[in-house]
Amino acid sequence: MAQLWQGRASKAVDARVNDFNSSIRFDARMLAQDIRGSIAHSAMLGNQGIIPAADAAAIRKGLEDILAEVESGALPIDPTAEDVHTFVEQTLTARIGDAGKRLHTGRSRNDQVALDIRLYLRDACAGLDAQLRELILALCTQAEAGADAVMPGYTHLQRAQPVTFGHQLMAYAAMLLRDIGRLADATARMDAECPLGSGALAGTTYPLDRAATAAALGFAAPCQNSIDGVSDRDFCIEIAAALATCMMHLSRLSEEIILWCSWEFKFIELDDAFTTGSSIMPQKKNPDVTELIRGKTGRVYGDLNTLLVMMKGIPLAYDKDMQEDKEAIFDAVDTLALCLKTITPMLATMKPLPANMRRAAAKGFINATDCADYLTKKGLPFRDAYKCTGSMVAACIAADKTLEELTLAEFKAYSPLFEEDIYTAIDLSHCCEGRTSYGGPTKASVLAQIALTKQKLGV
Ligand code: ARG
Repeated sequence: MAQLWQGRASKAVDARVNDFNSSIRFDARMLAQDIRGSIAHSAMLGNQGIIPAADAAAIRKGLEDILAEVESGALPIDPTAEDVHTFVEQTLTARIGDAGKRLHTGRSRNDQVALDIRLYLRDACAGLDAQLRELILALCTQAEAGADAVMPGYTHLQRAQPVTFGHQLMAYAAMLLRDIGRLADATARMDAECPLGSGALAGTTYPLDRAATAAALGFAAPCQNSIDGVSDRDFCIEIAAALATCMMHLSRLSEEIILWCSWEFKFIELDDAFTTGSSIMPQKKNPDVTELIRGKTGRVYGDLNTLLVMMKGIPLAYDKDMQEDKEAIFDAVDTLALCLKTITPMLATMKPLPANMRRAAAKGFINATDCADYLTKKGLPFRDAYKCTGSMVAACIAADKTLEELTLAEFKAYSPLFEEDIYTAIDLSHCCEGRTSYGGPTKASVLAQIALTKQKLGV
């Protein structure tokens, strides 16, 4: 396919430059959005009397046919076209003649591409939002089942205090709710202003109705400055940052799942359909899905970095560097979508092993804080209670015992404040259920967190 910009040059562009310059292999995915934008633009041109109404109608029909044929496979996308905009316009003109040549009146590929990416990301982010909701609901289901499954909570990956499996999982639901919010914020800002009508950078002499195209394409208003309109890619950066943050959350969850399904923990068993084997070690059942998610997180961070670095040194308005925006943001969107598609069913089918969680909770002195709190409630200053309990823990470690295995006489040797009720105070379920502060690990709190999460999702 020839370039749209033939006329000035004295000879054909070198084939290598052509290949280098071309973006069709990655921007073809914006075909539907490109056509949506062109239909709105040409309808406005017709309404404003800038082009004949009959031409606007022919353009609409021609564009709708192209979209339908590409979608059905009848019309292949020409890989030699410079970009999707060129492909659509030249295909249209080949079919409808002069009316097709009028489509680009009062427009540039600079405002066109700035519009297309926004429309594409609007659709893509709606898809990610739906996938995130599904994952949160899968977490809620597992959390409900594990609302009273006591497990050790960790700090520094050392057993710290008792929590429940449900409590731990709902921490991830809270993160993902924020991811949904971040994506909604970024898309709302992106949808606020429409760049179409900015032209190449300096607007146009045609009496465009920018408010009409903005409204027709679902934007609140036209962008207020045409130079900014064509040179802004903040929305790509904001969305990439939201996606990178979300990947970070998925990666942390993945890391925990990797630990939990190891023999060292065995808190969960992944469904066989979501694990892989080893070509040499017959016993292996590997959590590849989660490792890949952890690995792909770096890739999305890279996409964000690509966008930030691409934008930092380019003068206003459009520069060709900006063509690089698409591969980065598309990769970020595709990667997150792929990860969500796989992690959700993996999480929904994983089997928690509460007995193992409890066994781990029984070791590691995660009730030591409760023992100190017991003494504090009996009148000992907390710092003294802390020190006393610390020496008990040290002695238990030396004797290979747990706190609950000490006799009352042994307890009393450390402090006369200890009574028979110390055994209840340091019982794991009691320790967990006693942490009744808002947002804590109790069964009631986990169920409340699930209800609140569903309320926030409107389900
Ligand atoms: N393929 C180009 C891009 O993605 C479209 C805009 C081209 N504009 C230009 N002035 N060469 O950025």
